[in-house]
Parts: sequence; structure tokens; C-alpha cells
Amino acid sequence: MKKFYGFKKIKTAVFISGKGSNLKNLIKFSLSKNSPIDICLVISSNPKAKGLNFAKKYNIEKKVISLSKKKSGENKIIQILKKNNIKLICLAGFMKILSKDFIKKFNGKILNIHPSLLPKYKGLNTHQRAIANNEKYSGCTVHFVNSKLDSGKTILQKRIRINKLDTPSKLAKKVLKLEHALYPKAILSLYSNL
Ligand code: GRF
Repeated sequence: MKKFYGFKKIKTAVFISGKGSNLKNLIKFSLSKNSPIDICLVISSNPKAKGLNFAKKYNIEKKVISLSKKKSGENKIIQILKKNNIKLICLAGFMKILSKDFIKKFNGKILNIHPSLLPKYKGLNTHQRAIANNEKYSGCTVHFVNSKLDSGKTILQKRIRINKLDTPSKLAKKVLKLEHALYPKAILSLYSNL
């Protein structure tokens, strides 16, 4: 059993749909002594998600669950979460919207990272919209997940200046770097008092 300063680490599942750079970063964080989480499960909504390779590399159980039929897909996920005794869910580039029922079951135990300074720019194409609106700053937010899209309580936020030469993809790269620093920090801020 993995320990965090003498306490059991929190059994955590990461949900992905794509590249999985946040997943990789969270796995590395989870392996450090001062991390309160133990990532023991990766759920992907997409069989082609590159992030699944990180689960393989680090020998973490992984499951691909289609959510095209939401109810039955979520039921499958719930079974797997129960079986693995998962106490925390980190969404990391997970492109599906979970149902109210699912969120209720894990109330306060689902975190997400979003590439904007919420409440600004919920949803997709955040960088494109921030640049088009001549925003001075962009950034990222780690928040609790509630039943409304990108609307749960903010845990931590980090901002970055948008400069004139930034394109949406340049800005996305910069913000992604910030995300990698912010997600572990947000988790530590929640669980360092165990
Ligand atoms: C990140 O920008 C995340 O905030 C957003 O989707 C992107 C996923 O990147 N929701 P990755 O799959 O973690 O590399």
C-alpha cells in the first residue's frame, strides 16, 4: 500500500480522451513521496487516445469505455470505480460531459482542469476566443465538477499574459505548461492536511 507521510494515498482515477499530457504529469506527481494521490486507474472515452500509452508505460490499469450510450457507459465506469475503491476522479482532457446522477454519486470528489480563467471561456476553443476578444491574460483553472459545464467551485487558477504574437496554438502550448504545474498544486492544496 502506498503511503503519504504515513497515511494511505488517495486512490485516484484519471479520465482522459486525448493526448494525456496532464495524465502523464499527474502520474509523475503521484509517484513522488509528497503526493497524496495514488493513480490506480485510467478511464478513456476514446479507444485511440494517445494518453492510454502512459497508463501502459506506468503499469496502471486502463479501461476504454464508450459513452455514446451515456447511461450504460457511466454504469460501467461506476462498477470499475467501485471495484478499484476509487475515492478521487481527476478529469484531464476528458471530452465528455458526465451526467448529473454520476456527479452526484461522487460529489466533491471530481476535479477538472480547464484552459481558461474561468468563469471566462467555458467550453471549447478557449484560446481562440480569448485572443479574438483581445484579452490581456489567459490561463487555466482547476475546479470541482458540478452539474453545469466548467462551473464548479474554483480550487486554483494561474494566469499568463497574452502577447501580440500569440496564435491559439502557441497560447495553448504555454497554457498547457501552466496546467502541468497547477493540477498537482491544486491537489496538494486540497489534501495536504490529511
Ligand atoms: C488541456 O488543455 C485541458 O485543460 C483541456 O484539454 C487539454 C488536454 O490536454 N481540457 P492533455 O490531453 O492533458 O495533453
